Amino acid sequence: MGFTMGLNLLLLVAMVATNILSLYHLSSTLQTPKRPPSPAPVPDHLLHQLQTIRATISHLTRLHPTTDSSTKPTTTTATTPSDLLLHSHLSPIATACHNHPDLLHRYMSYTPFSHCPQDSDELAESLILRGCHPLPRRRCFSKTPQKPTSSLPHNPFAPSLPDQNVLWNKYTCKSFNCLMRSNPKLGFDPIVETARFMTYTDELDLPIPQLLQIAKAANSALRLGLDVGGGTGTFAGRMKLYNVTVVTTTMNLGGPYNEAVALRGLVPLHVPLQQRFPVFDGVMDLVRCGHAVNRWIPLMAMEFLLYDVDRVLRAGGYLWLDHFFSKGVDLDKLYAPLIGKLGYKKVKWATGNKTSSKNGEVYLTALLQKPVSK
Ligand SMILES: *[C@@H]1O[C@H](CO)[C@@H](O)[C@H](O)[C@H]1NC(C)=O
Ligand SMILES: *[C@@H]1O[C@H](CO)[C@@H](O)[C@H](O)[C@H]1NC(C)=O
Repeated sequence: MGFTMGLNLLLLVAMVATNILSLYHLSSTLQTPKRPPSPAPVPDHLLHQLQTIRATISHLTRLHPTTDSSTKPTTTTATTPSDLLLHSHLSPIATACHNHPDLLHRYMSYTPFSHCPQDSDELAESLILRGCHPLPRRRCFSKTPQKPTSSLPHNPFAPSLPDQNVLWNKYTCKSFNCLMRSNPKLGFDPIVETARFMTYTDELDLPIPQLLQIAKAANSALRLGLDVGGGTGTFAGRMKLYNVTVVTTTMNLGGPYNEAVALRGLVPLHVPLQQRFPVFDGVMDLVRCGHAVNRWIPLMAMEFLLYDVDRVLRAGGYLWLDHFFSKGVDLDKLYAPLIGKLGYKKVKWATGNKTSSKNGEVYLTALLQKPVSK
């Protein structure tokens, strides 16, 4: 009974969530389209729907799985799957958007068929970072730069990127040059970026020629990759020169990272770290996690992330943890065992002290190969 009930609740949640989106659309079409959006409070019907969703979810998460293993599998007395409960705590199902009705309301307060409001990008970014992804679609025109250049580089390592192709209003810096000067490590300095992934200074480095060599020696084709938290897309850019197609997940935290990736002729995916990778199972030859993937991610969320990496990797594909950092003791006690659970072959495993850290943090660079059969 519990299972059916859980399922019913899920369906209810899905139904309510769908309705709520329609309500948004409905209420926006019912308004006179010409009037600018007024800062009206969240409509009552919406609040009511939100309460229903919250109540349903909390009911769902209160259901505990029974440990009665004596039941025959045919009688579906099993309750809500425990991983569903777990994940709904990490990344609440159907509530991620609805937990922020104020932001969502502002995001969806626009005049249909007209220009999207000025603060759209910031609102989208805020919502996505809070786990509200995918965002609902809208029927408005996104703002575009006034005088973009059409002479775009094909080389991902062009000496400069065109400032006029970016909307700078939401950033402190108003040019790529400014970003580059503010911190050469942000990924906007072409000289720094040209050298990245090509040099070997210590054991934590894995230069791309070496990576390709390893794959070649193992008779494993590298054609497609996913770079998780890939900043301005330099890894994808370098791999492109080796005829490997890499897509980059990146957020616009403090700078136009997505635009930079695109201006370099690469594919930016605007998805947060907690998002299920938007690619199908077993299709990737390589997943690289840059140091955006680190101990700041809660352990349980990290576990779901690694298993999602496993999902998208093909058998024989590689996971490259590039400068993952954590406290030394945590690496031994938590992260190494967690990574070990995947059962991957350790092609490379190098650790080193994080010299910039006062907390005794260490780096791990690991290249792991997914087994062909489990
Ligand atoms: C990439 O592909 C092009 C066109 O097929 C070829 O000319 C070039 O040599 C390749 N580059 C590398 C590094 O394999
Ligand atoms: C790393 O740091 C630990 C203590 O913080 C120290 O004992 C160890 O010698 C250091 N290792 C290296 C290679 O510097």
